[in-house]
Amino acid sequence: MKKPIHHTFGPLATPAQIRNAFLLQWAPWRWLQGTEHEMFREALERKFGMEASLFATGREGLLGLLRSMEIGGGDEVIIQGYTCAVVPNAILAAGGTPIYADIQVKTLSLDPVAVRRAITPRTRAVICQHTFGIPADISALRIICDEKNLALIEDCAHVLPDTIVRGGIGTAGDAVLLSFGRDKAISGVTGGAVLCRHQLIGKRMRALEETAAPLSRWTVMQLIGYPLRYALAKNIWPLGIGKGYLRALRACRMLPAILQQQEKMGRMDAVLHAMPNACAILALQQLESLHALNERRRMITQYFTDMTHRYQWPVVRGVDTAPALQKYPLLLEGAQHIRAALKKQHIYLDDGWNNHVVNPRSVNEQAIDYTPGRCPHAETIARQILSLPVHPTMTVAEAARTAGALHTLIQTT
Ligand SMILES: Cc1ncc(COP(=O)(O)O)c(C=O)c1O
Repeated sequence: MKKPIHHTFGPLATPAQIRNAFLLQWAPWRWLQGTEHEMFREALERKFGMEASLFATGREGLLGLLRSMEIGGGDEVIIQGYTCAVVPNAILAAGGTPIYADIQVKTLSLDPVAVRRAITPRTRAVICQHTFGIPADISALRIICDEKNLALIEDCAHVLPDTIVRGGIGTAGDAVLLSFGRDKAISGVTGGAVLCRHQLIGKRMRALEETAAPLSRWTVMQLIGYPLRYALAKNIWPLGIGKGYLRALRACRMLPAILQQQEKMGRMDAVLHAMPNACAILALQQLESLHALNERRRMITQYFTDMTHRYQWPVVRGVDTAPALQKYPLLLEGAQHIRAALKKQHIYLDDGWNNHVVNPRSVNEQAIDYTPGRCPHAETIARQILSLPVHPTMTVAEAARTAGALHTLIQTT
């Protein structure tokens, strides 16, 4: 049996992160508070040139931001179809209403024409998501927001460019949202940041951060154990005991869930939590290695692009414009069957972002205010998408195994 290829098996559990997580296990006094928390904030502020506030997750950061912008009371916030449930959940938790606008097929991100159509007198903000790292049309969205006096929030959960360049990702929003979850651009296992261009909102965010509740030590212990547990699972997989090991961890509640049951029903806990220092330590090390992490993503991306040219696979056009991709999106009829067949070869391509407009698939879309038929492009993409992993712990050999298995399947079906 071979090692599993996966989108979510500790995709950012690099050797450096595993080492840091191991050392942290024995230093509980560094878990909740410490100097690295401030160092991480300062590094983000230097990178973006904006004031940063840190929270336990990106979704909590977004909820704090909406509160700081005084968005609630039924105010409408435009978001894209083909997104993660945590985005509309934060809007609902703030008291707002998520309004879904369709996406462009070439970027998988908001279509400015659909945004214009979705604006009403109740609209207060637009959240623009750079899906999988493909840049959204931020200049068009900026123009619309200026014209209509709306706040533009750039959701950079999926991408962190090596450098922030004028006109590029992270430069158009009134605020920028980052996530340091397990499969994001950099990972602290958990964590989120909001960068604010406007002083007043930045001040309010810092006040919210100062009163945020700490996570429990038990939770932090589970979080820092995550890179170690997945590294072990990957390595024992060829012995045939990896699946059982993960199942046992889950049963003992040693694998913290990414989405709580209530979040799948459109309800988010309204309490904001502080980003633990331990997670800041892990995320800071990855921020300092961002160029190397993105280089690996670009190398695997280039490999898949070569295969795409060779085998004429239909790929989302905008992948060439990404500073670094989170995943490599192909569009194929029968994507669901292909995923099922690849799973038998220990190639797990179900990342949760398929067959649904509001992801993952286990989410109740009606509870999250999505009406079927509202975003036809997003619905087609959700059906056809087959994303290949390009994360920093993928190797070229694993990419070759994935491409080879995919090519064989496409030829024989
Ligand atoms: C597009 C998008 N925005 C925001 C978030 C929030 O991230 P977090 O998991 O840190 O709450 C996610 C998480 O999956 C996401 O996919």
